[in-house]
Amino acid sequence: MKQTLLEIVVREMQQGTVIIDDKGNILYSNPFFRKTFAIHQPIDGIKLSDVVSDQVLLTTVDSVLSSGNRQPKEVTLQGTGNQVLELRLVPFSRNGLNGVIGFFHDVTEEKRVEAIKRDFVANVSHELRTPLASIKGYAETLLDGGMNDQAVLKNFLTIIDRHANRMTALIEDLLTLSMLESHQIPLKFEPVDIRGMIANIIHGFEKQAKDKGIELVFECGIRGAECGIKVSISNGDLLIVMGDKVRLEQVIVNLVDNAIKYTNNGTVRISAKRIDNMLQVDVQDTGIGIPEKDIPRIFERFYRVDKGRSRELGGTGLGLAIVKHIIQSHNGKIWVNSNVGKGTTFRFLLPIAS
Ligand SMILES: Nc1ncnc2c1ncn2[C@@H]1O[C@H](COP(=O)(O)OP(=O)(O)O)[C@@H](O)[C@H]1O
Ligand SMILES: [Mg+2]
Repeated sequence: MKQTLLEIVVREMQQGTVIIDDKGNILYSNPFFRKTFAIHQPIDGIKLSDVVSDQVLLTTVDSVLSSGNRQPKEVTLQGTGNQVLELRLVPFSRNGLNGVIGFFHDVTEEKRVEAIKRDFVANVSHELRTPLASIKGYAETLLDGGMNDQAVLKNFLTIIDRHANRMTALIEDLLTLSMLESHQIPLKFEPVDIRGMIANIIHGFEKQAKDKGIELVFECGIRGAECGIKVSISNGDLLIVMGDKVRLEQVIVNLVDNAIKYTNNGTVRISAKRIDNMLQVDVQDTGIGIPEKDIPRIFERFYRVDKGRSRELGGTGLGLAIVKHIIQSHNGKIWVNSNVGKGTTFRFLLPIAS
């Protein structure tokens, strides 16, 4: 049969199309329809119910065929896996041939993004409401007379200040994420000396580590060199990646901050070395670890193993989401290995500048 342009359009459409006669036989199906329902053989002339088992689809087709009214009907189908399909069934009657045409639109991605957005807004509102409620509660108690007692006044103001700091941190992290995702501020790629950068950052964490009885170690991967924390690196040993310095600093700061936060007495060991043409950085701690069931979700926004503990430590639950975003936008990879009670290692790889 000579193909008309319309037939080519229907065949190439990224939307499933199937034409069914009033006996339930398939008159035509396009490749997208067959792919969606994992059908690998020709199906023209075969009953729809012989090739598709989706009960919602079959009963809806039946009801459209048997009802006298010629109104199109729309339903949502749960496909294989997490797939979501929107189906529109349009009855037709032409030259004595009656039946129904089905159009299948894959809306899985739209639904997924919708759900993420919904969760995100709910999470942000909740995260802001908690400290706000505390601030309001303490302020009201002070206004109700509490402020006349100097000790209470100081105590409550300290708490209010802490909650306000948490809200500030949250809003800063949200702005960072949103800027990263919207590409509002493009990454500024320049040669970055990773070892020097890490050494500087670790220096800033020395007090925080010491206060918790944690030993901070930097293994800079230079054979024969005393790295310690105060590392001195000669030109020949520079490890240079092309990257956005401010963002890469954020990655190291967030990982080291977590390692110290979630460790009590022990060691936090940072190492940076070259593996082929990649830079490999490990941030390893001997802390509380992450349960196996939480690991797949640990980089999600607001996902925390223990919300209460994270909040107490001033966390926002956005640090790792930011880290992952930055690493990926530098064409890198990040993953985590952890044993509860033994410790955690975050490892990332970045391409080394040629
Ligand atoms: N080094 C670590 N050891 C144990 N748990 C960790 C470590 N790093 C991250 N986590 C877990 O991952 C969660 C998410 O981390 P992050 O996004 O930085 O949020 P935050 O530190 O603000 O809670 C933390 O709440 C914690 O449960
Ligand atoms: Mg954190």
